[in-house]
Amino acid sequence: MKKKISPSIMCADFIKLEEVLDDFKKSKIEYIHVDVMDGNFVSNFTLGTDFCKVLKKSTDISLDIHLMIDRPEDKLAWFGISEGDYVSVHYESTPHICRALQRIRDLGGKPMIALNPGTNVCVLENVLELIDGVLIMTVNPGFSGQSLVPGSLNKIRKTREFLDINGYPNIDIEVDGNVSFENARKMSSAGANIFVAGTSSIFNPKFNLVDGAVKLREYIK
Ligand code: DX5
Ligand code: ZN
Repeated sequence: MKKKISPSIMCADFIKLEEVLDDFKKSKIEYIHVDVMDGNFVSNFTLGTDFCKVLKKSTDISLDIHLMIDRPEDKLAWFGISEGDYVSVHYESTPHICRALQRIRDLGGKPMIALNPGTNVCVLENVLELIDGVLIMTVNPGFSGQSLVPGSLNKIRKTREFLDINGYPNIDIEVDGNVSFENARKMSSAGANIFVAGTSSIFNPKFNLVDGAVKLREYIK
């Protein structure tokens, strides 16, 4: 499957947001990863509905909205979701995961289910018909700059096997958290095809975003 990059915009320098979006365009970035946190599902707060709407007005790059919020099904309409946007909701964030995934599709988005490190891949069984992608959290959600949770690579492998064995070879696997260049290479070999690029790779003061994206593409080939 085509390997795609989704930079975690929460790691960007917001003072230079227009420049960042230009660099994404130059790098042919496929998605912009927007981490939304409500201080409940995860203890951190980050970006919100207004920020998503500003992005929709400022770029034609599709969004990859990662909802780390409780009861997402009640709040989806606030994010300005449009055709081609990925929206991921956490399996652990609602008793109504099917309703949340169906609502994303109804709003024109591509539904993606997100799994915390401790959640077993088998929960995918009942939502395979409803999703276009799976987001495997390779760190505990909530903060950038963390280290890979042990067992993450094996979980990516098991997820790819599970999807293929059940007849869904076209469901994307996105990985999120400590996707360094070296980790990205291993995650790609394990079956991931969308890579959330944060402080571990392209948002590094040592080089510019465009060079970082070129370097990351080399590692995920
Ligand atoms: C973690 C966030 C990630 C993170 C990625 O909850 O969802 O997007 O910012 O950045 P690094 O590379 O710092 O883990
Ligand atoms: Zn994320």
